[in-house]
Amino acid sequence: MGLFIDSSEPKEIKDLFAWGVLSGVTTNPLIIAREAPDADLGERIREILAVSWGDVSVELTTETEGEMFDEALGYHAWDPERIVIKVPFGETGLRVLHRLTKRGIKTNVTCLMAMNQAYLSAVAGATYVSIFSGRVRDMGYDVRPIIGATREILEREGLSAKIIVGSMRHMMDVNEALEAGAHVPTVAPPILRKMVWNPRTIETIAEFNTAWRNRKKAK
Ligand code: E4P
Repeated sequence: MGLFIDSSEPKEIKDLFAWGVLSGVTTNPLIIAREAPDADLGERIREILAVSWGDVSVELTTETEGEMFDEALGYHAWDPERIVIKVPFGETGLRVLHRLTKRGIKTNVTCLMAMNQAYLSAVAGATYVSIFSGRVRDMGYDVRPIIGATREILEREGLSAKIIVGSMRHMMDVNEALEAGAHVPTVAPPILRKMVWNPRTIETIAEFNTAWRNRKKAK
């Protein structure tokens, strides 16, 4: 399924989509508050839609069922094909998820720290379940068995939810998430750039190009 970019910077998103490795965007209120505190959310998301393709996750910021549902319908209307409603996990979140699922609206259940939470979300109809690698590790737990067990139960039960792994702190987190069974790592731009960089690759390309430029032709 490829990778998603965890950012709300339209310029950055446009630049990185040109690599051909991205297939969606995830945002959250913290990312947008940090990157564009004065931005109008609707305008910001429309800018992101214009420079990307695939699913764009927008997270709910209200906290009661009625408010969350109305907020979700508002975001959904921006682009019913591509907007995915990011629903914070919990009892209220599950109620909202269930109502959005019945309407055929795509959802990404977020802030998941455990397989049981991801399982409940998948059973309730989530399109994506987002496991937070860095935050699980911050608590002193290994995230790999959580990702692996979630993948296993989704497959065994024939649940269609796809596992996003976010909250990546290091490039190694991406490798481990993929090996453990993530469908889609979502990565911040600096981590995606680190996945490309390797000193030995750079050195080897430079060696080849220097040899070509300095070749001695036979005349
Ligand atoms: C994922 O969808 C989230 O936006 C994000 O990865 C959360 O990461 P954090 O722990 O860096 O806030």
